[in-house]
Amino acid sequence: MRILVTGGAGYVGSVTVERLLAAGHAVWVLDDVSTGHAAAVPAGATFSQATFADEDLVTRLLVDNAIEAILHCGARSLVGESIREPSIYYRANVVGGVALLEAARRAGVERLVFSSTAAVYGVPASTPITESMPLDPINPYGETKRTFETALRWYGTAYGLRGIALRYFNVAGASQRYGEDHDPETHLIPTILNAVARDRPMALFGDDYPTPDGTPIRDYIHVEDLADAHLLALEATGQPLAAGASPSLMLNLGSGTGFSVREVLQASEAVVGSPIPHSIGARRAGDPPILVASAERAQEALGWTPRRSGLAEMIGSAWTWRQAHPAGYPEDR
Ligand code: UFG
Repeated sequence: MRILVTGGAGYVGSVTVERLLAAGHAVWVLDDVSTGHAAAVPAGATFSQATFADEDLVTRLLVDNAIEAILHCGARSLVGESIREPSIYYRANVVGGVALLEAARRAGVERLVFSSTAAVYGVPASTPITESMPLDPINPYGETKRTFETALRWYGTAYGLRGIALRYFNVAGASQRYGEDHDPETHLIPTILNAVARDRPMALFGDDYPTPDGTPIRDYIHVEDLADAHLLALEATGQPLAAGASPSLMLNLGSGTGFSVREVLQASEAVVGSPIPHSIGARRAGDPPILVASAERAQEALGWTPRRSGLAEMIGSAWTWRQAHPAGYPEDR
């Protein structure tokens, strides 16, 4: 398959491109490196440093390279930033996203897999979360992802676009070559590892939640398991559609198991082999107490099962990558 990956210089994008190349696909990466790293684009991919919001440029790229499917990982993805600066999120995730859909329509590309998020559910009434539960995002990040999902659905109904939205829960871990390098870093596992590797202070954001140990529970999924799901989803968009079936599909990607912040901290201490200094801080605004996926629909629809999503394996791979890249990615490819 000839695949365009937006955001292929980002964390999930780079590991997924690596997986697609290993499966024998031809990959073009489009990324403006506003949050990603040119050095994270795997060597076998053709890299264009530009934005997916440039409809004419993307149309040319799709036509000139006879692209068959798009994997749309490119986005702004920080909850806190989205609350302070919704304009950035609407421009990139909605306006830019629709430009990409229009480019696909003009170029006749009819298959698209989209990186969505558990943030589309907001604070769910119960867990595990199934795809049929109401969508009620509580921040512009989740809202803009929901808006793109809705556009994907209507483009499917009207224009026959075969779309799959993958709603990620908490992505963690690294492949041998590619890992997580954000600035600022806000995610739990790299923040814990930075506390050790870079001697940065860290806090648990609240220990008075209604959970067994008082810290929030999340569903962590290994980034390589996620990459497998993207490959299967891209293949699924090429399968004949059953009579009466919708051309678009929304799937949770999680392991179905929840771990508390304290459990993650303890597992990290076991991995690094020393206690991790931390304080107990205030709750972070917008953090729900428990987010755990029902991953049944993805398993049924894609035949996908997470295989590496135990805490020790996820944290262990992130730690190995962090030690090999103490300063993160270099500036250049
Ligand atoms: N946490 C800390 N200290 C830190 C960082 C995080 O205690 O320094 C806690 C958070 O309060 C939360 C848990 O660790 O309870 C996980 O936090 P992350 O920031 O790693 O991940 P989130 O659950 O906030 O975010 C994830 C995805 C988002 C998505 C969101 C849905 O990364 O993209 O789930 O709510 F929007």
